[in-house]
Amino acid sequence: MGAGIAQSCAQSGYQVMASEINEELLNKGLGIIKKSLAKGVEKGKITSEDEQAILSRVKGTTNVEDFSDRDLVVEAVIENMDLKKKVFADLDRICPAHAVLASNTSCLSVTEIAVATKRPEKVIGTHFFNPVPVMALLELVTTVISSEETLNTAKSFGEALGKTVIVAQDKPGFIVNRLLGAFMLEAVRMVEAGLATREDIDNGMKLGANHPMGPLTLADFVGLDTMYYIAESMYEELKDPKFAPPLLLKRMVTAGHLGRKTGKGFYDYTQG
Ligand code: 3HC
Repeated sequence: MGAGIAQSCAQSGYQVMASEINEELLNKGLGIIKKSLAKGVEKGKITSEDEQAILSRVKGTTNVEDFSDRDLVVEAVIENMDLKKKVFADLDRICPAHAVLASNTSCLSVTEIAVATKRPEKVIGTHFFNPVPVMALLELVTTVISSEETLNTAKSFGEALGKTVIVAQDKPGFIVNRLLGAFMLEAVRMVEAGLATREDIDNGMKLGANHPMGPLTLADFVGLDTMYYIAESMYEELKDPKFAPPLLLKRMVTAGHLGRKTGKGFYDYTQG
């Protein structure tokens, strides 16, 4: 998602610094942006001059100390609270005092992340959706400590990216994943119970409710590990059985069947 967020920002005219933990992942991320823009040129959506201008606005680094002149940072590391807290403590030390620190978390408490810094009023959730350059939504997550000024900055940022901005409170799943999570987990339970084939479940929602992807295709697209982390953290906080991760999902994650990214999930992607 980091690549998609960086691309969207650069495409909207922002000067972007994209950070990764090593050169290999940095090159992979920058490669995703290049490929996506090249596709845009091929389809005639942008010119090759636009493509070059956008790419020139994205700089890569593996040294987070390079964030010392940033006005706004969007963190998109994996959904692990200890790691997020460490990243935010580092950003708090490195970034200018006025900088807003945002998290792309899809399920973790933004309040808990915020208190890892000495500027909790400047910490907010900016929850993007995959694929970021295509999806029209930015879900902001406010906390009891975040300031009105931070919310306004984040709203302006989202609008500058051309997104429709919605605002949620820091409660498990926010708005979208509270609904989408329950829906996708129910689809997994239906497979587990043998109620229907995966194709029929997906076609049911695609053709019967006009969803662009059925819930199981979407689960493979989002990543079954991500879906599992979301379910687990929502269940832990809400104690509502509808968010308990189904055993089938747990076993698939253990087996490394994480969806598109590993080639296998509810469907097989190894043949292309
Ligand atoms: N970057 C840039 N553009 C992309 C893209 C990418 N990664 N992927 C697709 N596109 C563009 C295509 O170029 C195409 O543009 P065009 O219509 O102008 O030619 C358009 O998107 C449609 O793509 P395709 O024709 O290749 O394929 P589809 O029509 O099947 O659309 C899709 C693909 C946009 C992914 C569509 O299937 C979709 O909307 N799926 C649902 C996605 C969704 O629900 N995302 C949210 C997931 S939940 C989440 O992210 C939250 C997290 O917390 C879990």
